[in-house]
Amino acid sequence: MTATLASASQQLDRVGFLDLEVDPTLDLVAEINRLKKEKNAIILAHYYQESEIQDIADYIGDSLGLSQKAAATDADIIVFAGVHFMAETAKILAPEKKVLLPDLKAGCSLADSCPPALFRKFKEKYPDHIVVSYINCTAELKTLTDICCTSTNAVQVIESIPKDRPIIFAPDKNLGAYLIKKTGRDMVLWNGACMVHEIFSQERIVKLRQRHPNAKFIAHPECETHILDMADYIGSTTGLLKFTISDPSQEYIVATEAGILHQMQKASPHKTFIPAPPENNCACNECPHMKRNTLEKLYLCMKYELPEIVLADWVIRDGRASIDRMMDISEKAGLISG
Ligand code: 13P
Ligand code: SF4
Repeated sequence: MTATLASASQQLDRVGFLDLEVDPTLDLVAEINRLKKEKNAIILAHYYQESEIQDIADYIGDSLGLSQKAAATDADIIVFAGVHFMAETAKILAPEKKVLLPDLKAGCSLADSCPPALFRKFKEKYPDHIVVSYINCTAELKTLTDICCTSTNAVQVIESIPKDRPIIFAPDKNLGAYLIKKTGRDMVLWNGACMVHEIFSQERIVKLRQRHPNAKFIAHPECETHILDMADYIGSTTGLLKFTISDPSQEYIVATEAGILHQMQKASPHKTFIPAPPENNCACNECPHMKRNTLEKLYLCMKYELPEIVLADWVIRDGRASIDRMMDISEKAGLISG
């Protein structure tokens, strides 16, 4: 059984996006704004999107904030400037709405690291365990999950589970290890990771800190333990952004996808933000999946209302329960993101 009904290539073939050239003289920002009004559409963007996409979005946020916005919007169309699992989550939360993703191939290495068929077998070995899945997983994996979580509410989700219930945490082993430390709960971890957050170099960060002794080092919990152990602050993308706004320091070394620096710099123009260096000189701290979305693709997807996220009814029904539980826990804990 497959969760997504129409493949990317089927949908792209239908509109011929691959052959379409956008008129280079077109004012894309004006066109996107016009389409937004005409179609009563809302653009939700994650912080890892290109700056020009963030600048045209109606809301920019972390995974929890984006989910909360998707659930609450009265727009007819949700244009999701993010990756596939995020748009799927929006569809699960707002099944009556049309959810568009500018590039259906915008995936996620973390979600890919946990194929539902393998996870089902894994889960069978632990029949007494509660399954907590990081929201960075496929819609189908959510149907095998008891409670979802994001980096903002993961601690509260784990703490909501009775102490005598054993837990499986999937798919991010780094976030899982962080949560074990933070909550003192033992958990069985799925062996997945994010390709972007695994690339930071401890040695180069140490050297950078020597050159910037007043800089604070802040990190996303998807980073590996030895990187998190050096951090002055650990949090979700929204958490990191808020920290740089309220904290008095003037300089930060930031260990997460580099797209977040755009909002940090906008919010605190007088401060200095330095992306944490990766293992080699590649641009590996940019997520290649997030960066598949471009302003041109955003325009085309709004114009043709494709590619659309289409999920089977059973996936929406069974996946929704795990997200609803997460939303309840977040609400009770007062976690309104962004
Ligand atoms: P948050 O924005 O929820 O912290 O998640 C980061 C991420 O990896 C999204 O893909
Ligand atoms: Fe997935 Fe990592 Fe990209 Fe986030 S940054 S979408 S977790 S690959």
